[in-house]
Amino acid sequence: MSIYGVQGQYLPMILTEIEDRLQKINASSSPKLYEHLIGRVKAEDSMIEKCHRKGFPATPQGALRDCRDAIALRLVCNFIDDVYRAIEALRQADWCQIVTEKDYITNAKPNGYRSYHLILDVTTPYPDVDQQTPGHYFVEIQLRTIAMDSWASLEHELKYKHNIKDAERIAGELKRCAEQLAACDVQMQTIRQLINETD
Ligand code: GTP
Ligand code: MG
Repeated sequence: MSIYGVQGQYLPMILTEIEDRLQKINASSSPKLYEHLIGRVKAEDSMIEKCHRKGFPATPQGALRDCRDAIALRLVCNFIDDVYRAIEALRQADWCQIVTEKDYITNAKPNGYRSYHLILDVTTPYPDVDQQTPGHYFVEIQLRTIAMDSWASLEHELKYKHNIKDAERIAGELKRCAEQLAACDVQMQTIRQLINETD
C-alpha cells in the first residue's frame, strides 16, 4: 500500500494540471514570468523518510496534510522582478490559495540559499485525504532566478559529500559565491531596466 493511499493516483494528474495552468499564464505574460519550470511528485521512499524525520505518521494524512510538498514545482525566472510578478500572478489565480510564504530572497538563509517558497492550497476535482470532493491538496512552489537555481543545484550536489576536509572554508566560499550571484542578479535587473527605458 502506498504512503499516499488512494490519493496517490491523483498526484501526477494534479501536478500536470498545475503545470498546464502555469504554462498558460506564462504564455500570456509579457515578458514571460519564468524561463522554465520543473515539477515532481515526491517519491514514496523520500516521503516515508521525511515523515519519520519530522515525527509525522507515515500515512496518507502525514504525507498529504502534515507534509505539504508531495507535489512541488520550481519556477526558474530570468530576473528577480519576474519572481515577484509570478507570485502576484499566483495571488490572483482563482484555483489556489497561498497558505504560507517564505521570502529567502530578502532574507537569505545563513548558508546563502536564496529562493521564494510558497505553499498553495489547490482545489481539485478529486477527493482528498479528508474525503472531501472537490478535494484540497497542498503544493509547494519554489521561485528563484537562474543564478539562485545554479547555486542551489551545486550546493545540493556538495551537501552529499560528507568526508570533505575544511568544511568551514567550503561553507564560507559557497556563501561568498551566493553573494556574488545575488549581486549579479541585481545588476542584470538594472540592465533590463536601462534597456526598457530606452525603448
Ligand atoms: P522541509 O519541510 O524539510 O522541506 O523544510 P522546511 O519546511 O524547513 O522548508 P524550507 O523552506 O526550508 O525548504 C524546503 C525546500 O527548499 C527543500 O526541500 C529544498 O528543496 C529547498 N532548500 C531549502 N534550503 C535549502 C538549501 O540550503 N540548499 C538547497 N540546495 N536547497 C534548499
Ligand atoms: Mg521540502
